Amino acid sequence: MTGEDWRALNLANWEERTPVHLRSPLYDFTPHRAGRGRLDPIVEAEIGDVAGLRIVHLQCHLGDDSVALAQRGAAAVLGVDFSPSAIAGAQALAAEVGARDTRFVLSDVLEVPETLPDEAGRHDLVFTSWGTIGWLPDIRRWARSVAHLLRPGGALYFADLHPVAAVFDDAGAGAAEDRPGWLVPYFERAGRVFDDPSDYAGSGERIVNSRTVTFLHPIADILGALRDAGLVLDWLHEHPRLAWQMFRGQVRDADGMWGWPDQPWLPLAVSLRAVKQG
Ligand SMILES: C[S@@+](CC[C@H](N)C(=O)[O-])C[C@H]1O[C@@H](n2cnc3c(N)ncnc32)[C@H](O)[C@@H]1O
Repeated sequence: MTGEDWRALNLANWEERTPVHLRSPLYDFTPHRAGRGRLDPIVEAEIGDVAGLRIVHLQCHLGDDSVALAQRGAAAVLGVDFSPSAIAGAQALAAEVGARDTRFVLSDVLEVPETLPDEAGRHDLVFTSWGTIGWLPDIRRWARSVAHLLRPGGALYFADLHPVAAVFDDAGAGAAEDRPGWLVPYFERAGRVFDDPSDYAGSGERIVNSRTVTFLHPIADILGALRDAGLVLDWLHEHPRLAWQMFRGQVRDADGMWGWPDQPWLPLAVSLRAVKQG
């Protein structure tokens, strides 16, 4: 898998998915239009007070969380994504709801030190959540992008699918009706090509550019990359629930999150805060 293969396949996929998401009820901007976009319950409980902070939102997609952070009083929010249609959608949302201190720029997240040299050390918080590093082949380069953006003492907030959950799939080897089976070995570092014309936003629309390349980053790789980029772990939480249904055995809880019906068999999400050293 060459550098361009993963990027070209994933970009074509995201360029096609973005308009599908803009039509999808999953991305509901009604709360943003009313002045306070929703964050999912895990992020809402952990993110803390963002008022007055300069924030970068990496892999911002449609900008809904970027705008939600701006609507919580952030001094400035800079959204970054490699998809031109996502950036255009995010700019349109911010303009529509009057989120004036919100900007969006086109960049591969791995190339941020080169594409955004003027943003070096200017930000209090880097925010990235749900469906991010799994698209990236190089977790150490990702961590260097995060460190590039933060001022000393600034923090990364990260929340995403737990890599242990990414090992499994309902159609994986050995799956049963009530139990997912093996899909990706936890320690596999190479990218995997998947061909899936469906889309998680549930519209039923079929994606033509259906081949993607994704990467499983073990917890130790994420923490090691952040440490080597100069960030110190403040805390790390593992969660038995997610904002979406990944396995058919999951059930929805009172918060609208998807967890396990009886025993918390697998961690489903991981979140952490890490601080850039001076
Ligand atoms: C699942 S979405 C981001 C999650 C966001 N929290 C959401 O739910 O809308 C993934 C985003 O990552 C972006 N992306 C994927 N690979 C990227 C890369 N190498 N550099 C920058 N953005 C990338 C895609 O364009 C897409 O907008």
